[in-house]
Amino acid sequence: MISRVVDGIGELVTNDPTVGDGSSLGVLHGAAVVVESGRIVWVGPSSAAPSADGRIDVGGRTVVPGFVDSHAHLVFAGDRADEFAARMAGERYDGGGISATVVATRAADDDTLRALLAARIVELRRQGTTTVEIKSGYGLSVADEARLLRLAAEVTDETTFLGAHVVPSGVDRSEYLELVCGPMLAACAPSARWIDVFCEPASPHAFDEDEARAVLLAGRDAGLGLRVHGNQLAAGPGVRLAVELGAASVDHCTYLAAADIDALAGGDTVATLLPGVEFSTRSPYPDARALLRAGVTVALATDCNPGTSYTSSMPFIVALAVREMGMTPAEALWAATAGGARALRRDDAGVLRPGARADLAVLDAPSHVHLAYRPGVPLASTLGV
Ligand code: NIG
Ligand code: FE
Repeated sequence: MISRVVDGIGELVTNDPTVGDGSSLGVLHGAAVVVESGRIVWVGPSSAAPSADGRIDVGGRTVVPGFVDSHAHLVFAGDRADEFAARMAGERYDGGGISATVVATRAADDDTLRALLAARIVELRRQGTTTVEIKSGYGLSVADEARLLRLAAEVTDETTFLGAHVVPSGVDRSEYLELVCGPMLAACAPSARWIDVFCEPASPHAFDEDEARAVLLAGRDAGLGLRVHGNQLAAGPGVRLAVELGAASVDHCTYLAAADIDALAGGDTVATLLPGVEFSTRSPYPDARALLRAGVTVALATDCNPGTSYTSSMPFIVALAVREMGMTPAEALWAATAGGARALRRDDAGVLRPGARADLAVLDAPSHVHLAYRPGVPLASTLGV
């Protein structure tokens, strides 16, 4: 077995509070990490690093856990630049444009979708992401949803069945719900770890509380973990439903009532914030400070999709979280790494300690603060070890 020491780390963020400065980021200066067979075997001061078969010197740069992008819709064809331009001229987003992506995605063959997906994976890895969750949701037929999930499963273990994204045009609501909870779920479950639903009574295209509950319970019966798109367009039942059913994460949380924050604080559902959506839909940002004050676990993710957030950049999301949502650089980095891992219920990602996966990102900067301090500058990359 070949071991490698990554040395010359000016600032190392481990997310292990038992090392370093005692903060939740677990920061060490002048550090080294030893990896073997894709796992971390040692973390500590450079001066005490054990010998290894190979050595990578990062020249005083910063090393952080690779970003965990716990919410992305990466299997799709076409784009919706015109819809974005119209929104920037004052149109509102209501989910209606999803149908255009469904048409383009259904028309694309497997190899076309595979190539588009591969290019997006290259793009996000180049920006420091090492774990990505990928949803279906642009197929909306049994064959197409199953196809999108098979393609997603070729590139990640974190696959999510989102047949309950919207009711496809021309299809009866209750018939579609029966399809999602029956034959579509049966066809998709073998390639999915999670089930998700767009619970948004404010959208005529999405699902109300009872419909969302039916979808989630069917998914749970099929052995899938639960996730929810909730409270994106207006206050509503999504957050409380997610907590009630023990979902791993409720995502968006743009419009929260006090009772939603109380529910999150009393449960173990992560609140995943997606500020790329607020940026691209000109919406108010979620109240991250209220969530943090209440002790809620907060994650940050891109929601990369052609409608509401066509970015694969976790550094951009971190910068938005700091500038627009009042998170400190440390809180935002934690949420984009350890927070994402919690949202996916993973303890082998988002942290650099012995036993965890050797998922390292390097920042061409003297500290993690530069992620938000130098927005738009390509500082982050993954470190192949
Ligand atoms: O997470 N809100 C629902 N789904 C996506 C948007 C999908 C789209 O507009 O294509 C989201 O924002
Ligand atoms: Fe989404």
